[in-house]
Amino acid sequence: MCGIVGYVGPRVAQDFLLEGLQRLEYRGYDSAGIVTIDGDLEFDIHREVGRIKKLAQLVNERPSSSGIGIGHTRWATHGAPSIRNAHPHIGGEGELVLAHNGVIENYDELKNRLLKRGYTFHSETDTEVIANLIAECLKNRRSKAADEDRDDPQLALDALKEALSQLRGTYGLVVLFKDWPETIFAARLGSPLVIGIGDGENFVASDASPLVGYTDRIVYLSDNQVAVVNANGIEVSHRDLGLIQHDVKELQMDLTSVDLAGYDHYMLKEIFEQPAALRNTLRGRLNDDDATAVLGGLNLTPNQMRRIKRVIFTACGTSWHSALVGEYMMEEIAQIPTEVEYASELRYRNPPMCENTLVFAITQSGETADTLAALREMKRKGHRTLAICNVVGSSIAQEAEGGIYLHAGPEIGVASTKAYTSQCVALAMLALHFGRLRHLGYADGRAIIEQIRAVPDAVEQALKTNDRVAEIAAKYKDCQNFLYLGRHFNFPTALEGALKLKEISYIHAEGYPAAEMKHGPIALVDKKTPSVFVMPKGFIYDKVMSNLEEIKARGGPVIAVAAEGDRRIEKVADDVIFIPPVQEFLQPIVSIIPLQLLAYHIAVLRGCDVDKPRNLAKSVTVE
Ligand code: AGP
Repeated sequence: MCGIVGYVGPRVAQDFLLEGLQRLEYRGYDSAGIVTIDGDLEFDIHREVGRIKKLAQLVNERPSSSGIGIGHTRWATHGAPSIRNAHPHIGGEGELVLAHNGVIENYDELKNRLLKRGYTFHSETDTEVIANLIAECLKNRRSKAADEDRDDPQLALDALKEALSQLRGTYGLVVLFKDWPETIFAARLGSPLVIGIGDGENFVASDASPLVGYTDRIVYLSDNQVAVVNANGIEVSHRDLGLIQHDVKELQMDLTSVDLAGYDHYMLKEIFEQPAALRNTLRGRLNDDDATAVLGGLNLTPNQMRRIKRVIFTACGTSWHSALVGEYMMEEIAQIPTEVEYASELRYRNPPMCENTLVFAITQSGETADTLAALREMKRKGHRTLAICNVVGSSIAQEAEGGIYLHAGPEIGVASTKAYTSQCVALAMLALHFGRLRHLGYADGRAIIEQIRAVPDAVEQALKTNDRVAEIAAKYKDCQNFLYLGRHFNFPTALEGALKLKEISYIHAEGYPAAEMKHGPIALVDKKTPSVFVMPKGFIYDKVMSNLEEIKARGGPVIAVAAEGDRRIEKVADDVIFIPPVQEFLQPIVSIIPLQLLAYHIAVLRGCDVDKPRNLAKSVTVE
C-alpha cells in the first residue's frame, strides 16, 4: 500500500527520493510527495495526485540540491486522493514534516483535543494528527527545558516517543524537524521500515527495493523501535526503553530483481522467472539420503512434529489458494488433518482449541494485516505459529516462531505469480517432511523427491505455451464473463486462474469445482461465457470430462488446459493448451502457468495497467 523513502548524505536527496518512490510504485498508490530541507532551513514540499512521473515534473520545475529529504506514496484511507491529503504533512507551525504508513484508530479523539488547543488541520488524514501531536509534545518539552537543552536532538526524540505512545493503530513513519536539519527520525509499529547503511550516507524505506544498488547493508526495524538517522550513523532505541543494539543484515537483492529486464511488465517478467524461483525455493532442501525435505527453519524437533494432530493454513487472496493446494497435499502425503482459513475470518473467530495444532500463515509480502492479526490471535490461543513467507525480515516473518522462506525474489507485479508457485512447492516439501516422520517409507520419499525436482523443468516447458495462449486471449478478450473449472488438486487452480483474470483485466470470472456447476452456476453458461477447464490427466479426468460435456451441451465455449498427448480433449474443447505431465499433487504448479499468461494477455489487449491494476495494492496493510 503506501510507501516511504528517506535519504541523508552527500547525494541530491530528490534524485534518490523520486527513484525510490518509483520502485515502490508496485505497492499501489494514488498520490505522492517529497520534502527536502533547503539552504534557508525551509521545508520544500512537492505533492501531486497520480503517478510519480507527474510528481517528478513538478520537482523539476523547482529542483533542490539538498542532501536530506523524505518521500511518500499514498493509498487513500482517510480522505480522498488529493494534493492536500497527500504526504508529507506539516506539524504545528512548520516545526516538522512527516510521512506515515498505517492507520491511526484514535485519530478523531486526538484531533478534537488538538483542535481545542488551537491546532489547525489542512487535510482529512489521520497522519496530520500525528504531525500536530508531535509538534504539541515538542512545544511542551521545550517550554520546560533548560536554555542549553533546547536545541538538543534528544528533545525531538523524546517528543516523538511521547506522541507515539499516545497513538492507537499502526505506523511506519519518518519525520524531519526544522531545528535538526541533518537528521531523519523513523519509527515503526505494525508497518515495516528498513534502514540502509551507506558510507557517509543513510537511507530509509518501507521495503528494501529502493535501496538496491545503493547499499547491501540493511537494518530491519522491529515494532516499537525508533531510529535516529544521520549521514554518519544511526541509533536505534525502544519507544519506551533505552538504546538497542541493532543487527545489520546483508540485503540479498540485485538490480535485475527490481528492473524490467527487457519485459513490458513486471508480471510477465515474474511469470517467466518461475522456473528460477522454484529452483531457489528448492535449493538445498531435498535430501536424497534421508528421502525427505530439509526444513530447519520450522524450529521443531522430530518428536514435536510427530505429535502434531492438526494443521491450520491461514492466508488471503492468492496465498489462500496455495493454502488450499497445501491442504490437499498434507492430507494425501502427510495424512494430517488440515484446515484452510481466510485470515480475515479467522482473526475474529473462536475455533475450539485442539491440542497440538500447528498454524501456518502463508504470505508473499509478510505484511498482510489480516494474516498478521490471525497469526497473533492463534499465538494468543497458545498454538505454535509458523510462516511460509517470501519477504525476509517482514512483520510476519519476525513474529512467527519459525517457517519456510520462499527465496522467490522480489515480486513487484500486483498480481502474484511466482510467489504462488513457490508457495505450492514449499507446501509440497512440507507435506513430504511430515509424511516421512510418520507413515511414508523411504522409497515413497525418494519418488516424491524426484517428482518435485522435475517441476521447474515442467514449468519451463509450460511457458512455451505463451504464443498459443496469446492467440486464445485475442479470441476471447471481449467476453464479459468467464468460468474456471477444475477438480481435486486443480480446483484451487481454477480459483487462482479466475482471480488472476479479474484483478488485472476487470472481467468477471468465477472459479468452481467442476462438479458444482450443475448445482447452480451452469445457469450462467451461454455462447458468450467461456469455461476454462483445468484437466490434466489424473484419476478424476473422466469425471471432469463429463462436466465439460455438460457445458458443451448447453452451448458454452470451452478452453481446456490439458496434458500433452491427450487426443480426446481436442475433439471436444474449442481451444486446448497443452502442458507437460507431472505427478497429480504437483499439477497446480504447472497448470496455473497458462492461466497466468491468459490473464496477462487479455489484460494487455484490453489496455489495462497490468502491474498497477485499479483499486489494488501489492500488500494490503489495512484491515
Ligand atoms: C494476488 O494476485 C493478490 N494481489 C492478492 O490476493 C494477494 O495474494 C493477497 O493480498 C495476499 O498477499 P500476501 O501473500 O502478501 O499476504
